[in-house]
Amino acid sequence: MSNNQSNDPNQEEDVLTNRQGHPVTNNQNMRTVGNRGPATLENYDFIEKISHFDRERIPERVVHGRGAGAHGYFEAYGKAGDEPVSKYTRAKLFQEAGKQTPVFVRFSTVIHGTHSPETLRDPRGFAVKFYTEDGNWDLVGNNLKIFFIRDAIKFPDMIHAFKPDPITNLQDNERFFDFCCNSPESFHMVTFVFSPWGIPANYRMMQGSGVNTYKWVNNEGEAVLVKYHWEPKQGIKNLAQKEAEEIQATNFNHATQDLYDAIERGEYPEWELLVQVMSDGDHPELDFDPLDDTKLWPEDQFPWLAVGKMVLNKNPADYFTEVEQVAFGTGVLVDGLDFSDDKMLQGRTFSYSDTQRHRIGANYLQLPINAPKKKVATNQRGGQMQYRVDLGGNQNPHINYEPSLLGGLQEAKQEGKEFTPYIEGKLVRESIDRQSNTKQAGETYRMFEDWEKDELISNLVSGLAPVDSRIQAKMIALAEEADEEYGRRLREGLANASRDGSSQKPLGNKDGDKAPEKAIKKGH
Ligand code: HEM
Repeated sequence: MSNNQSNDPNQEEDVLTNRQGHPVTNNQNMRTVGNRGPATLENYDFIEKISHFDRERIPERVVHGRGAGAHGYFEAYGKAGDEPVSKYTRAKLFQEAGKQTPVFVRFSTVIHGTHSPETLRDPRGFAVKFYTEDGNWDLVGNNLKIFFIRDAIKFPDMIHAFKPDPITNLQDNERFFDFCCNSPESFHMVTFVFSPWGIPANYRMMQGSGVNTYKWVNNEGEAVLVKYHWEPKQGIKNLAQKEAEEIQATNFNHATQDLYDAIERGEYPEWELLVQVMSDGDHPELDFDPLDDTKLWPEDQFPWLAVGKMVLNKNPADYFTEVEQVAFGTGVLVDGLDFSDDKMLQGRTFSYSDTQRHRIGANYLQLPINAPKKKVATNQRGGQMQYRVDLGGNQNPHINYEPSLLGGLQEAKQEGKEFTPYIEGKLVRESIDRQSNTKQAGETYRMFEDWEKDELISNLVSGLAPVDSRIQAKMIALAEEADEEYGRRLREGLANASRDGSSQKPLGNKDGDKAPEKAIKKGH
């Protein structure tokens, strides 16, 4: 029971107030004319309370609505594999062995909304905000290392096809596979998502990846192409469809709960950060384009180099303030890190801050979870919910512009040699040359363990069985092109399903086998 009558001054901080700081003496009854009403319009406390409640929700993220988050730190090794990391990047957070940088991580599912089950077949988001001494760096990744498409202009169509039908509000395999069979670059990702890799057992036992190709720049202004990967020290574990259904029947928040409870118990999850590095260039000797995010970089040619580890050791203090309002973006880089020409990365980089200005508001970077942990001094002023009065530094607060002889903010000095790539070419609307849409899907299929192959075929068959036969035929053709056995098993499975009859289900399988009880050691 609350006791807001207490005279103990030490209790004062527990006294309920309204947002104007007025003590609330009666939170059970609104002010009325007599105890049976009616209510009056000057009822400030009541109207304040209800009208704030009416505005409790902000727009849900257009994708990745459901998430869980935690605070922690990143600790650098000072090396990339056996080499000093400074050979590749001058980014300060990586340089010194043992150097710690605070982080906030948000894991998520992609397609369904804020309270959807966490057992669904879907990629998982793995977004990390590093609060570095040079300002923030966001590494906005997924659990899988590749993606469905390679050109950002296709993203809204892809998401429309994957999200529920605009009329029935049901997710529909026909729409999903319709998009995928007509976007053959998606077949590698479809192969992962319909295997057990499409349902990680929880957030602690999944990998992470930056997916897109970035650049690292060293002190001499020289760049390399780089891909980022997170490896969980807890091991990797994925679920068979049936296991996921069993969990979902009793708990559709299992991944959030698993993360929260582990951190409360003091079992802090850890991931190692590894990079793959390639010299900056087109690499015509490869049968894929290094800027194509539907491809893995073969590990034997581009070894994984460990650069540090991340530990998550603190749960959010408030879900909405931190997990809901956190805003990550691929444009948020620090000195020593750069973009590549990867067309997806470039499209994403516009999209994130654009949506956040809408979702959270123009001043979203002032929220504590999004603000850097170093001094911010800018000439940007105003906008909804602006509250900072110290944005301009101390010199001369009247000067909210630059350049000036009267004080105000000065440009920073360039540290290290600037990276100035030379770019020349015709403006075109064209796909890349080396598409190689199915080769790696075949390699991935052959790398799967037997139970993973069985699950993949079973999940694809039950997903495809109810859909238009033209879509089925195109999907089978893609599987055949990837691997003879993969194609044959899918064709036979669909032929059997059409004999048995089958019903439409959300993305997933009808009666998958139970997966062996084990953590999978090796990532893909
Ligand atoms: C969230 C756009 C591709 C990972 C989002 C959001 C948008 C978006 C608008 C919501 C952000 C917010 O409301 O704060 C795009 C576009 C893409 C794309 C236009 C392609 C052109 C990808 C890829 C990945 C990815 C390839 C994986 C590497 C994420 C993650 C989140 C997210 C993890 C959730 C971040 C969080 O937890 O707040 N994306 N995305 N996206 N996206 Fe993408």
